[in-house]
Amino acid sequence: MSDAFAARLLAWFDHAGRHDLPWQHPRSPYRVWLSEIMLQQTRVATVIPYFQRFVAALPELPALAAASQEQVLALWSGLGYYARARNLHAAAKLCTERHAGKLPRGIDELQALPGIGRSTAAAIAAQAWGARHAILDGNVKRVLARYHGVEGWPNLPRVEKALWALAEGHLPDARLADYTQAQMDLGATVCTRADPACLLCPLRDDCVARREGRTAELPTPRPG
Ligand code: ADE
Repeated sequence: MSDAFAARLLAWFDHAGRHDLPWQHPRSPYRVWLSEIMLQQTRVATVIPYFQRFVAALPELPALAAASQEQVLALWSGLGYYARARNLHAAAKLCTERHAGKLPRGIDELQALPGIGRSTAAAIAAQAWGARHAILDGNVKRVLARYHGVEGWPNLPRVEKALWALAEGHLPDARLADYTQAQMDLGATVCTRADPACLLCPLRDDCVARREGRTAELPTPRPG
C-alpha cells in the first residue's frame, strides 16, 4: 500500500535527487549490481571513477565471469573491502553456470549469490526491473527510525524487524527504481546522521523525530 511518505519522497526526488549517476545511464542489471556492491561500504563520489573504469574493462557479466582474479582485483584496487570483489567474481561465474550468464530476476536467486544480502537483492531488483521490494540499508534505517520515532539500535534483530515492516508498508505501486534511489539520496544528503537538513526534507511534517526535537537522539546509538 502506498502513502504520503512515498508520494512526497518521489516528488522530492524529481527535483532534488541524483539523476546523473553513471549506473543510471544506461541502466542494466549488471551495472546496477556492480554499483550496489561498490556502494555497500563506499560513498558515491568515491565509487564513480572505479565504476567507470570497471565497466570500461568488463562491460557485461560474461566478461566479468571470464576475467582473471588478478584483473578483477586490479580493477578493485583502492576501493577496499576486497571480499566484495572476490564475491562479485564468484557470483558472475555462478550466473554463467546457473542462469545462462545473466543475473537472475528473483529476489531469492539474487540473495543466493555471494555478496548479495536482503537489502542489496531488493535494491538490484527494484532498480534493474522495477520490482516491488523494500530496501533497508543504514541510510534507510536512519530515515525510518526518525520518521516513525523507532527506539532502539537499528541493528538489534527486534528493531530491524520492525524497520523492515515499516519499509514494506511505505512501498509505492510504481516507480520502484526512483523510489529506491530517492531513499538513499534523502538519507545521504538531507537526513544525515549529524545535523540533518530538516527544512529541506519532504517528510518533515510527519516526522516524529523532527516534531519532538529528537533528531540528535534517533536513531538510538549502538548500546555501549
Ligand atoms: N548506497 C547503496 N546504493 C546506493 C545508491 N544506489 N545510491 C546511493 N547510495 C547508495
